[in-house]
Amino acid sequence: MPGPAALSAGAAVALVAVLLLARREEAGPETGPSKPKLPKLREDFKMQNKSVFILGASGESGKVLLKEILEQNLFARVTLIGRRKLTFEEEAYKNVNQEVVDFEKLEDYASAFQGHDVGFCCLGTTRSKAGAEGFVRVDRDYVLKSAELAKSGGCKHFNLLSSKGADKSSNFLYLQVKGDVEARVGELKFDRYSIFRPGVLLCNRQESRPGEWLIRKFFGFLPDSWASGHSVPVSTLARAMLNNMVRPSDKQMEILDNKAIHDLGKAHGVLKP
Ligand SMILES: NC(=O)c1ccc[n+]([C@@H]2O[C@H](COP(=O)([O-])OP(=O)(O)OC[C@H]3O[C@@H](n4cnc5c(N)ncnc54)[C@H](OP(=O)(O)O)[C@@H]3O)[C@@H](O)[C@H]2O)c1
Repeated sequence: MPGPAALSAGAAVALVAVLLLARREEAGPETGPSKPKLPKLREDFKMQNKSVFILGASGESGKVLLKEILEQNLFARVTLIGRRKLTFEEEAYKNVNQEVVDFEKLEDYASAFQGHDVGFCCLGTTRSKAGAEGFVRVDRDYVLKSAELAKSGGCKHFNLLSSKGADKSSNFLYLQVKGDVEARVGELKFDRYSIFRPGVLLCNRQESRPGEWLIRKFFGFLPDSWASGHSVPVSTLARAMLNNMVRPSDKQMEILDNKAIHDLGKAHGVLKP
């Protein structure tokens, strides 16, 4: 029989082992050696000299995404596909290519979609701006046709900016169209397909949208935790889209909700799998 001293020594060793294990668990994947660090992932991505296109780069989310792409210098070639040519003053934009297309005859512009490894779609309008028919035309038909051309053109990773609550069986036109287009793009079977479903986008919108303005003001009065569950700054969204892109994934399709967008957009060092 071991004496009380031997027992307490054994218990002490066990306690230390449990504490060490708990500390490792606490530190978790964030500091584990197996998790690649974000700067390294970005460097690895850059080395591949990929090409990207952005649809909707003149919009509130698209323009912040473009700025972030240029700041991080992630791609060898950056192309904007839109209905009008954009003008940029800053030096950083001087190598940005622009393809001006007629979205009503997108087939005629298939070449604009050729040879891009990655695509981002931040296209969209509103019912109040375009009417119900016009909204469906842009948010479903233009998006889907663009995705089809991108797929034929060799795009491997398609990123769709959708919306919180997207659901193809919803009774609300907005959410129904968002869910429907998500599913239709999914049928194209890109190697990787990432869907982003943010809540209300927080930005300083130039265009007057009283409804959105009111919602943003309302969020301003709410506790941070509640507001951040239902909204996200466009800068966080843009960083989340890029942080997600540089981390390898074995999932063919992934849906990133508002919370995942916040988490990913805030990541600076190490990313969770
Ligand atoms: N606003 C929100 O709170 C919110 C929340 C969740 C999800 N979303 C979704 O996120 C996406 C981007 O939103 P956002 O607020 O960044 O958009 P935005 O500022 O309204 O920009 C929309 C983009 O789509 C283009 N576009 C609009 N109508 C077009 C047309 N008829 N033909 C060709 N291009 C057209 C615009 O180009 P022009 O500059 O030439 O007009 C612009 O580049 C949308 O799909 C939206 O539904 C928005």
